[in-house]
Amino acid sequence: MSPRVELSGAALEDERRSDARLRPETLGDFVGQSRVVDNLRVFIQAALQRGEPMDHALFYGPPGLGKTALAHVVAREMRASLRVTAGPVLERAGDLAAIVTNIEPDSVLFIDEIHRLSPAIEEILYPAMEDFKLDLVIGQGPSAQTVQIDLPPFTLIGATTRAGLLTNPLRARFGVVSRLDYYPPEDLVQILDRSARILSIGLDPDGAHEIARRARGTPRIANRLLRRVRDFAQVDGQDRITRDVAGQALDRLEVDEAGFDSMDRALLRTLIHKYAGGPVGVDTLAAATGEDRGTIEDIYEPFLIQAGYLDRTPRGRVATPRALDHFGVDPASARKARGAQGRLL
Ligand SMILES: Nc1ncnc2c1ncn2[C@@H]1O[C@H](COP(=O)(O)OP(=O)(O)OP(=O)(O)O)[C@@H](O)[C@H]1O
Ligand SMILES: [Mg+2]
Repeated sequence: MSPRVELSGAALEDERRSDARLRPETLGDFVGQSRVVDNLRVFIQAALQRGEPMDHALFYGPPGLGKTALAHVVAREMRASLRVTAGPVLERAGDLAAIVTNIEPDSVLFIDEIHRLSPAIEEILYPAMEDFKLDLVIGQGPSAQTVQIDLPPFTLIGATTRAGLLTNPLRARFGVVSRLDYYPPEDLVQILDRSARILSIGLDPDGAHEIARRARGTPRIANRLLRRVRDFAQVDGQDRITRDVAGQALDRLEVDEAGFDSMDRALLRTLIHKYAGGPVGVDTLAAATGEDRGTIEDIYEPFLIQAGYLDRTPRGRVATPRALDHFGVDPASARKARGAQGRLL
């Protein structure tokens, strides 16, 4: 998902290449998320001591927080080979069968966007996860037969931004379920320092902090902003990213003080200006902004709530005083507008 800094062609290719270079390799490189990481360290060590694959793990949370990165890290720490696929890619039972029957024993199978698996695939995944067995139907009609195939033991790691869409039986089959949260600025500063070192960019502590504070709590966005700020610095003939250089570049990129992207702004502006700050139902907000309800709930709202700009109430979504302040709206006039709206209804 975006920080809506448009990228195309060469810029996108550059981003893909440096993304791979910036990906943490070991648990030691993986910054923050200490509760998740500390637990994983124990599970990995215990599995290694027993000579077994680690239990199946589900990583969920908003985009860009490190789910894919963590799957790679786990495979590496387990010294296991990694097979990568994704929910939408697995169309038929045979697609999954071809993968799981061919993986090396004790490897990690990573299924990205696991909420998008079809029900038919989920059905065959259950026994594969539980007993390392695959029930395959061979043939059609009255002569169809079910054969059971033993699979090598493996660890399934699933990742999703939409944990709510996972079926209960699938979710119940993961021994480890970990939620990744937005990163505090200190963690993002650490990530930016590492990235700057890898990309040979001169980054002052104040410059790092300026980028971190506007990165929406998200490592992918922090890294992306770092590269874009570097572009501005370079063209302006600056060899280090100072606070001023970072601040000016971010302003030119229209990344505001709160790090909002265009959809964050659209949501809050609609709530404040069209609905007098709320409360308003999420369906109404979705219709007014043209964004899908699930995307608003799972991707935009968690950040806005966590950062203190939005509240979820039983009567609907409400803009907080902090949001009003951010958009320069006087709380008293918002209250008046709300009263007027109440009388109209
Ligand atoms: N904890 C971390 N420490 C260091 N770098 C991180 C961390 N988390 C993420 N990153 C960086 O951010 C980038 C984005 O992370 P990643 O692709 O794993 O996110 P994701 O949660 O899988 O997102 P999506 O839901 O879009 O697939 C990674 O390439 C990595 O460089
Ligand atoms: Mg991912």
